[in-house]
Amino acid sequence: MRIKTKNKTINNNPIGIFDSGFGGLTVMSAINEALPLENLIYFGDTAHVPYGSKSKSIVIRYSEEITSFLVKCKVKLIVVACNTASAFALPILKRTLKIPIIGVIKPGSKAAVFASKNKKIGVIGTEGTIDSRSYLQEINKICRCKVYQQACPLLVPLIEEGWDDDEVTDSIVKKYIKPLLDKQIDTLVLGCTHYPLLKKALQKNLGEKIILIDSANATTYEVRDILNNKCLFADPRSKKFLKFYVSDNPDKFKMIGSRFFSKKIFDVKKIKMTC
Ligand code: DGL
Repeated sequence: MRIKTKNKTINNNPIGIFDSGFGGLTVMSAINEALPLENLIYFGDTAHVPYGSKSKSIVIRYSEEITSFLVKCKVKLIVVACNTASAFALPILKRTLKIPIIGVIKPGSKAAVFASKNKKIGVIGTEGTIDSRSYLQEINKICRCKVYQQACPLLVPLIEEGWDDDEVTDSIVKKYIKPLLDKQIDTLVLGCTHYPLLKKALQKNLGEKIILIDSANATTYEVRDILNNKCLFADPRSKKFLKFYVSDNPDKFKMIGSRFFSKKIFDVKKIKMTC
């Protein structure tokens, strides 16, 4: 997806993107493709992944520390590319930050409402995201819909293990989506940034008629709109950079991250977190 822009380009500071680990790279990949002139910094909190089964207060603490790090890197905009952190920490981060910050739940909800014809929408995500009922609330702010949620705690470990194309994963996917199929949903939101790697397995078990919503593209449109409205586009003549930081195991990130980013990741730096 390549996005045309009208405004002049005037801000070379990077966009900061973060997640608990690898999943947010699917969002970074969409942003990188759509806005190829923008400098991007990614932070994967690999020391604390998964966020999905952790308490709200600890996810807020991690998110605050990562956000401070990104602010020190002089980012012009932050994308919380993690549904769990978007559900738990985004409202709090918004209160104190002086730069724009967005999550993935609102853009994903908008895209789902737009796509659904029968207004029966399924949402799959981590326990944290599903328990927060954030999708349910966001979707119903836009339009009255029936929203059916399903927590899928086994999917993130299977994806991180590289088992996205495996019969074990296939049968687990089938089990998780059965209750949603019984409700006759016509749209399914991938409420976790890891799940785009399961699109094939999901579509196979859902059938071709059910639309899958990956919030990466919808989030990218929102990023483009903010840059446009606030005149924050990068200068096309400047040299572009992509930087990757993690809180643990940079070598593993390099190896596994490429699957999520759809490009080779060469340089990853480790940052020590205090919490
Ligand atoms: N990628 C995270 C999300 O979108 C989930 C992974 C995790 O549990 O940390 O919620």
